[in-house]
Amino acid sequence: MRVLSGIQPTRRPHWGNHFGAIRQYIDLQGDPQSAFYFIANLHALTTIRDPELLRQYTLDAALDLLALGLDPDRATLFVQSDVPEVSELCWLLLTGAPMGLLARCHAYKDKKTRGLGADAGLFNYPVLMAADILAYDSNLVPVGEDQVQHIEVCRDLAASFNHEFGETFVMPKARVLDSSARVPGTDGEKMSKSYGNTLEVFEQPAVLKKQIMRIKTDSRPMEEPKDPDSDHLFELYSLFATDEARQKMAATYRRGGFGYGEVKKKLAEVAIEHFAEARARRAELEAQPERLREILGDGAARARNKAAEVLLRAQEACGVKLRK
Ligand code: TRP
Repeated sequence: MRVLSGIQPTRRPHWGNHFGAIRQYIDLQGDPQSAFYFIANLHALTTIRDPELLRQYTLDAALDLLALGLDPDRATLFVQSDVPEVSELCWLLLTGAPMGLLARCHAYKDKKTRGLGADAGLFNYPVLMAADILAYDSNLVPVGEDQVQHIEVCRDLAASFNHEFGETFVMPKARVLDSSARVPGTDGEKMSKSYGNTLEVFEQPAVLKKQIMRIKTDSRPMEEPKDPDSDHLFELYSLFATDEARQKMAATYRRGGFGYGEVKKKLAEVAIEHFAEARARRAELEAQPERLREILGDGAARARNKAAEVLLRAQEACGVKLRK
């Protein structure tokens, strides 16, 4: 049983990324063979065209995951482009991939509809993703709702290859990440970089505190009892607080006679505390770039091993590998 997912190396993770995805990847780790996670730098190339930035984001994404608890002894972490077998497999899948199927995929379609030019990389984005998944005989692919369509394409491509050339690929399943831990942003809308309402996991504590103190709240008088369940400050607080602290806070809301300032202070406190260890671990790892290289190098070696085996199987199946 192998779990696999790719993480795009973009910007710094915010609370929504953490609770909505990263934490769930980390919960799924077990041993190095059962959990493969990679930084999808080849996919990122469809949007990031600044080489220094791409390098930086790639290393940052790896640091973030490790700091937040991804354990190289319990999962395999690598950079997508360190496994060239995947790109070779991608070609085998490109032949035979129906244009119409790819044209319906949202990454490409959305860009098209907005009248923007799309390149062949974006068009074929789902095929590379299929190669990522199939190269490691992955069984389960935890992804956000928005990626489910791509997993469907992967299954289609795998099924038609298997049908045409004989059983070659393991059929993967999507596992939709639990988004019930909906993380509201500073304005109460879903936390998202595009709404400009994010709070970052590795923000400086002083800056974070300021951002939290500036969160907009309603202006009902202090005495009035308030409903905790319809308040985004309370929702944010709940991400970090123990059940007991959460209930205590809920009771305070219902009783009334408190100010939102107090909740904000508490929220800043628990959030800073919650990420303190990760912040420290990140700083520590950042100071040892050779250690990070070693982790990614080991991960790539393990991943290549598996990918080489699957690539050979596929090459033999479709006849690009000559018989001995
Ligand atoms: N496209 C995915 C995203 O944007 C990242 C990704 C690339 C991926 N390859 C993958 C996810 C393979 C799962 C499996 O989130």
